[in-house]
Amino acid sequence: MAGRLSGRTALVTGASAGIGRATAVSLAREGAAIIATGRREAELAGVVAECRKLGVEAQAIAGDLDDAKFVETLGNNAGHADILVNNAGWLIYAPVLEITPEQCAGMFTTNVVAAFAIARELGKRMAERKRGHMVFITSGAARNVGQFGVVYAATKHALSALAKGFRLELKGAGLKVSEIAPGMVDTDIRKASTHPAVLASIAARKFGPITAQDVADAVVYAVTASEGCCPDLVEIRPKDA
Ligand SMILES: NC(=O)c1ccc[n+]([C@@H]2O[C@H](COP(=O)([O-])OP(=O)(O)OC[C@H]3O[C@@H](n4cnc5c(N)ncnc54)[C@H](OP(=O)(O)O)[C@@H]3O)[C@@H](O)[C@H]2O)c1
Repeated sequence: MAGRLSGRTALVTGASAGIGRATAVSLAREGAAIIATGRREAELAGVVAECRKLGVEAQAIAGDLDDAKFVETLGNNAGHADILVNNAGWLIYAPVLEITPEQCAGMFTTNVVAAFAIARELGKRMAERKRGHMVFITSGAARNVGQFGVVYAATKHALSALAKGFRLELKGAGLKVSEIAPGMVDTDIRKASTHPAVLASIAARKFGPITAQDVADAVVYAVTASEGCCPDLVEIRPKDA
């Protein structure tokens, strides 16, 4: 059955879990061919199988986005994608004085440098074709700084600036760039944050998270908008937050 994205190909980073996985399957449901990337091959195989069951072409290209050579390879093998969902990212929440420079550099490497690098790889090719849509998954932390999430927020502020900048420079080349900024989502991303103060603060929250599917729905909204319409920024948060 033809979907709204039939004939288009989407590269989804961080497709092995959480928001990226839900997004890959949702785009497949709309008829897009899927290229799923992440480091965990078994999880990628699962998402590829789920997409194929929906009747679309799907493939996994596994690798570490922190590795510049892998990003180049991904650009060469997925450069034909019409849609990039720039989603891979990670965090460690802890009091700012207890975050190490290595952890800070690690978050910036994946959340900012790698996201820039893959956007650049695909952006060059999209600009040549004068068509394409990039979706940056930032965060509510792209505009606010929360306790224990200072460095993560700094990476997401930077990523949001990159999204604005890519939009500014590439709209003339026919590209659309959207930023989706979710609040707390029910995924495994906080599992590495085991500082007691962080666990207490999470336990004290008075609202529940939104789902990965809620974010995937926002991505689908952005990439199925009419030809002349580009949703620049979609902010979504738990209704009680
Ligand atoms: N969950 C939230 O509350 C929330 C809220 C706002 C924004 N976000 C953002 O949404 C995005 C997805 O997060 P999530 O909540 O879905 O987290 P998640 O379930 O932990 O998924 C993170 C994904 O990123 C991939 N990834 C991380 N580092 C990578 C690397 N070096 N190379 C390749 N892939 C890498 C992981 O794949 P592998 O482990 O297989 O490599 C995984 O597929 C992140 O950018 C996050 O900042 C999340």
